Amino acid sequence: MTILKKVTQTPTRIGSTLYDWDELVQEDRVHRLIYTDPAIFAAEMTHIFGGTWVYLAHESEIPNVNDFITRRMGLRPLIIVRDQEGKVRALYNRCTHRGTTLCRWDKGNTRSFQCPYHGWNFLNTGKLRGVPWPDGYGCDFKDPKYNIAQVPRVESYRGFIFGTLNLDAPPLLDWLGPIAKPIDEWLDRNPGGQVVVCEANRLKFKGNWKLAYDNSGDGYHVVYSHRSLLETENRLAEEGNKGMAFYRSSPDTAPMYMQYMGNGHHFKDKRPNLNKRPGGLWAIESPHPGMEHCESAFKERYGERAPSLLDLAGSEPVNINVFPNLSLLGNHIQVFEPVSVEETNAIWYGTRIVDANGDIGDALDDINALRMRTQEGFPNFGEVDDVANFEQIQRGLQCIEDEWVYMHRGLGIPGRIRTLDDGTIMAPATDEAFMREYIKEWKRLMKARPNLAIQREP
Ligand code: FES
Ligand SMILES: [Fe+2]
Repeated sequence: MTILKKVTQTPTRIGSTLYDWDELVQEDRVHRLIYTDPAIFAAEMTHIFGGTWVYLAHESEIPNVNDFITRRMGLRPLIIVRDQEGKVRALYNRCTHRGTTLCRWDKGNTRSFQCPYHGWNFLNTGKLRGVPWPDGYGCDFKDPKYNIAQVPRVESYRGFIFGTLNLDAPPLLDWLGPIAKPIDEWLDRNPGGQVVVCEANRLKFKGNWKLAYDNSGDGYHVVYSHRSLLETENRLAEEGNKGMAFYRSSPDTAPMYMQYMGNGHHFKDKRPNLNKRPGGLWAIESPHPGMEHCESAFKERYGERAPSLLDLAGSEPVNINVFPNLSLLGNHIQVFEPVSVEETNAIWYGTRIVDANGDIGDALDDINALRMRTQEGFPNFGEVDDVANFEQIQRGLQCIEDEWVYMHRGLGIPGRIRTLDDGTIMAPATDEAFMREYIKEWKRLMKARPNLAIQREP
């Protein structure tokens, strides 16, 4: 038996202003306020980062009982823990005494958390275990209100842990819908269909979190925003086909495409551009310092097996974007973490593979070392271009009289955008169709009355 407590409903009115969401989000454009208004940001923390499923962590980060990792759901600090019985929980990182964060560590392994302020002690199930000098209290500490609040719904899909406060949200798998298929494919190319999440490359930018999500499937900016990286990637490559070279010349007629998958999720698939042969993926990998040497040593060591082993280190050419805060691209897991209306953390977790079938043997460490190098590339040399744009958009949007942001590329051109039988929407790689679709989902959630609750152990 768990105890659920309804959270006060978020009012329609935000502050003293009544927002007209249909005015703010139109078919071809959105109002600057959705990126700049602190009251809208505050409402997003309940309607989006609370009202829908939010990515929290990966199970490989807490493989053993009593493992924990600290994360966020919107602005709420959380402790994601595998409790003593193996159950994954998302505890509010907030002491029930006077409200301080309970756990100040990034990760660790513990059966209980002792509050650093006055020493209240909680089991990792969230239950209060004891308080110092209890004689000084006249209350009954068995009252569940003293147990740590937790996210009432926590579910995993193939290792990805999501949580929501919304009791009316659909089951996780229904909510993922068609985006589950590219996630499956992203995992299934690895031995045992799994990855282990590693340490992260952490960036932050002075801009709204949606600027990053708007950009996550944007094929229109690539050759302009990332020109120096593209040139660096291809300076010494005879075929000129490395890294993001797909986007040169006429990206809309290339076999790659974008697909909107519903519920705010979308997918950019660049795999159709690939030459499907062992080593085909590795052949287009961006160059990195010292790469030729590593590659030739690898080929010498592993002979005929080298091309297919190298493909396991190569970056998968997809962007899989799970609304509102998760992106799988290359071999990374990227997480968008809102900090304020104009500040966001963009965190890039690396992934490594495991020898699940026992056929990689000695090569495993070499593959994972190469994989790590490929994962250093884009966050250092590409994401910096993107976050510079996000910061400059946030600056530009301070021109308060110039109100609209356009996202209408592809709109109104007959035959350019197709709706498939499963309801997903396909468009050429540079279309902004995914932006128009996800922002509709954002609007739906902002208008909705989410049925939010927290839970405590009885
Ligand atoms: S705030 Fe945690 S014990 Fe006082
Ligand atoms: Fe970019």
